[in-house]
Amino acid sequence: MQAPTLKVRVDALREEAHGVRSFSISRLDGLPFERYEPGAHIDVTSPAGITRQYSLCGDPECVDSQIFAVKKEEQSRGGSRSLHEEVSVGTELSIGAPRNLFRLEERAGEHILIGAGIGITPLLSMAYRLAACHARFTLHYFARSEAHAAFMTLLTREPFAQHVKLHFGVEREQLPAALDACLRDAGNDAHVYTCGPAPFMDLVVETAQTRLPADAIHLERFKAEPAPAADASLDSFDVQLASSGQMVRVDANTSIVEALASIGIEVDTSCGEGVCGTCMVDVVSGEPEHRDHCLSKAERASNGVICCCVSRSRSPVLVLDL
Ligand code: FES
Repeated sequence: MQAPTLKVRVDALREEAHGVRSFSISRLDGLPFERYEPGAHIDVTSPAGITRQYSLCGDPECVDSQIFAVKKEEQSRGGSRSLHEEVSVGTELSIGAPRNLFRLEERAGEHILIGAGIGITPLLSMAYRLAACHARFTLHYFARSEAHAAFMTLLTREPFAQHVKLHFGVEREQLPAALDACLRDAGNDAHVYTCGPAPFMDLVVETAQTRLPADAIHLERFKAEPAPAADASLDSFDVQLASSGQMVRVDANTSIVEALASIGIEVDTSCGEGVCGTCMVDVVSGEPEHRDHCLSKAERASNGVICCCVSRSRSPVLVLDL
């Protein structure tokens, strides 16, 4: 089952960088969009019928239009290719409601945003909010070259220019030193936000962890990494519905989503890979084996929520708030 969708029209397309195109959209029914939180993403269904998640990268206060950007992936399974090759101004698309798993920490004294490549997109909506609030922030943007850096026109103008530091052509072996320099002056109350290729984010986290507590480091992944080792998860377990007490068995080759569907309980899904958070359900009792890539460390540790498309259970029974 897919999350509820909204029909939109593409009003403008811009080539933002080599292989990166932005899409400005408005609602087909002419109504304004709801405001969204900086860092939020939406599901976008391409003309090829493939749904993928893309960060909103415009001003979160703007309700007349929304903007997302897509990098044309060489290894595309059709989603990004279709959006690049089959969409023109006037094309109608379906999108989902904004969801946010990558929030700004309002209490932070300083915000350090570190993006690479297309990972600039969620950081841009954060930068809009931080600039509007006159917050203390720096946006470090890493790209192979200026031609590969998206939204340069925007980033090099006020209100962003004074906060943006560009890092072009940094080689892999130079990256640890470059990231260390980005974080060298971070205060104790700083929070770090990163988005980009997985090895880049891993390095940002590794560097940031030497200076800041884990809950001050935030990241967003858009592609599933290989599933974590299934250390203590059970091959099969039971899921119980808190509302009715009904139980359903989840076998080794069945996901919780599939098991629930077999008894008529639909859980919204989108990515099916544990990256978007659409299928999150509250856990009443039991111990989940988290296999997603979107929950924060704190959410994992609390065991209060589970992504039902990929995660399993360490306890024989998992009671869900359904
Ligand atoms: S459907 Fe995306 S995390 Fe489960």
